[in-house]
Amino acid sequence: MSHSAPSTTSPKAGFHTESATPGTVTAAAGAKALAGDVTVPGDKSISHRSLIMGALSVGETTVTGLLEGEDVLRTAACMSALGAKVQKDGATWRVWGRGIGGLTEPDDVLDMGNSGTGARLIAGVLAAYPFTSIMTGDASLRRRPMQRVIAPLSLAGASFAARAGGRLPMAITGAKMPLPLNYESPVASAQVKSAVLLAGLHAPGATTVIEPAPTRDHTERMFRHFGVEVESTLLTGANAAGLGGKNKVRVVGQPELSGRKIVVPGDPSSAAFLVVAALIVPGSKVTVRNVGMNPLRTGLFDTLREMGADIAYINAREEAGEPVADLEVRASKLKGIVVPAARAPSMIDEYPILSVAAAFAEGETRMEGLAELKVKESDRLALMANGLKACGVDARAEGETLIVRGGARPKGDATIAVHLDHRIAMSFLVLGFAAEKPIAVDDASAIATSFPGFVDLMNGLGAKISDLPAADMPPVSK
Ligand code: S3P
Repeated sequence: MSHSAPSTTSPKAGFHTESATPGTVTAAAGAKALAGDVTVPGDKSISHRSLIMGALSVGETTVTGLLEGEDVLRTAACMSALGAKVQKDGATWRVWGRGIGGLTEPDDVLDMGNSGTGARLIAGVLAAYPFTSIMTGDASLRRRPMQRVIAPLSLAGASFAARAGGRLPMAITGAKMPLPLNYESPVASAQVKSAVLLAGLHAPGATTVIEPAPTRDHTERMFRHFGVEVESTLLTGANAAGLGGKNKVRVVGQPELSGRKIVVPGDPSSAAFLVVAALIVPGSKVTVRNVGMNPLRTGLFDTLREMGADIAYINAREEAGEPVADLEVRASKLKGIVVPAARAPSMIDEYPILSVAAAFAEGETRMEGLAELKVKESDRLALMANGLKACGVDARAEGETLIVRGGARPKGDATIAVHLDHRIAMSFLVLGFAAEKPIAVDDASAIATSFPGFVDLMNGLGAKISDLPAADMPPVSK
């Protein structure tokens, strides 16, 4: 199984997570009230960026709170394959970088595993080095579109040889001197923006990216944390020139970067599973501490509060340039709402678990503008609609809209194929807690990409997830 034994970049660097939970696991139905005070693993987006920026800086960068999930460990292995020194030292990760322009040719294929973020951000870096690297990934990543980064990075002077449709594996030969771009991205994607900005960091002069709507700005915040000159402007009114609502980011390239101290907050996208579990299991009260509250990531919490969720933000503070708070969540009666397309960039990874919450909300929840969900680790729009249906929930996908009619307690009693998608696996296990009958997922090992320890953490709160498939679970649903 591709998650358990990273073959190329990993072993050399020797970074390993706790052993992944393999195979089928089942969430027992009718969990008693969940209760506890917990933290979740570090933010995946910030963790990738901290390792990459450490590798591009001179001297030591220390990272605490790094997500030790498989996706991030791939990036760590990749940075060391490119010449940085990356070392885990107790709870602290230390990176000794090579400086802008200092990375060296890897002597083997870079295997990014399941990680779209790792693949696309690192493609941005490699576009600026005049050597050839070959990048691959697992079956899920090899299906995902890379053309969205190939297009701008080619304009900067890099060349690519990819499989049909711009899929991995691909060979990247970077530019001798990348050109500073002025690129208007057709897609609201932080990965595309970040790939262009990372290439731009190596280019002489200023690189500009315009994105159709603001997406997570962790790259920009981390650039600032390292002293890079970066500016973001939401284009409105007189300065919009026909680009109203779009977001312009400008970075000045070729800075001299020196190592920094980075504190990674808990991942709001992981906290999401605990929050929804606490909302839907009657009588629950769960506190999740140290959650990243970057406003470009909190769309799910805003949406759940609109649906009637009791989520209190306490101890709001800032750490290493990112807002953080503790979340206090109590089981709540939810109602269905329309979630507008404009909210998608701030909660793009949260639709699977939102659709689980919607199954418990009175009335209809319409989630609009979800085209990007089709090209995530799986086609999440189709998998959620079909999986919810298999669990007895009234759900359907209509074009780019996911519609869930909730209220009645879902029947459960299904085994869901997760197609190498961690968030699909966690979403259906959470649904299982409050269904009438158990729900199984066919491959829980995928969870380790973003949330190592998920099963133990949930069980510590009072859930019952076990790796013994219930003897009478139905076969995997189509
Ligand atoms: C991420 C951006 C998002 C998100 C992914 C992490 C990032 O992808 O889905 O999990 O760290 O930049 P897109 O940029 O493709 O929307």
